[in-house]
Amino acid sequence: MAEPQVLRHPLVDVRMTTLRDETTDRATFRAAVRELTAMVVYEAMRDAATTPLEVRTPVATTTGAQLANPPVLVPVLRAGLGMAEAAHAQVPGAVMGFVGVARDEETLRPTPYMESLPASLAGRPVFVLDPMLATGGSMAYTIDLLAARGADAVRAICLLAAPEGVERLAQAHPSVPVYTAAIDERLNEHGYIVPGLGDAGDRQFGAM
Ligand code: PRP
Ligand code: URA
Repeated sequence: MAEPQVLRHPLVDVRMTTLRDETTDRATFRAAVRELTAMVVYEAMRDAATTPLEVRTPVATTTGAQLANPPVLVPVLRAGLGMAEAAHAQVPGAVMGFVGVARDEETLRPTPYMESLPASLAGRPVFVLDPMLATGGSMAYTIDLLAARGADAVRAICLLAAPEGVERLAQAHPSVPVYTAAIDERLNEHGYIVPGLGDAGDRQFGAM
């Protein structure tokens, strides 16, 4: 099992503080989600393979780079939708799939309600975008779906994780690395991350 990759940077800490602050308004919260997503995806792409690309500058011809195999991006609705645009901006050539999973707040089990994914994910890196890794149930379920389509190079791209979720994912999918902006202390009795930031879906899009 790979250690979770936790971003360490003052700009990450400042935006995470914006997310945590209960007085942050929705638009500012969504902006911080986008900015942090760009940073986490940047880190998750650090080892991406490139192939050489000849490019003509106004001065000379030189060798640049292009991504050899851009990841398929899979935001987990609803909260992951706020990460989609920023991740896509980092990797404009990426294909995007979608999964809808709502956690049952009584049982804390994932309740799937939609999926729109490429038929085969074999040989393609896949980044699952979900800001919150709490119990890990939603992420583990999503990765099960991807594995059923042949995905074998999945990365979990989060903004905030609980140790319990990291541990559960390591048990269920030991080959899936977690990239996150922070790992908090624990879950509370309602399955919320402490100190956390509250409900990431509600804070972006409003309470249902
Ligand atoms: C949140 C979050 C994750 C899930 C994490 O979504 O975006 O998908 O909870 O919890 P877990 O690790 O315990 O499964 P939620 O179910 O609240 O739905 P939403 O995105 O529609 O708000
Ligand atoms: N989902 C959220 O949005 N926040 C939490 O703290 C846990 C699950």
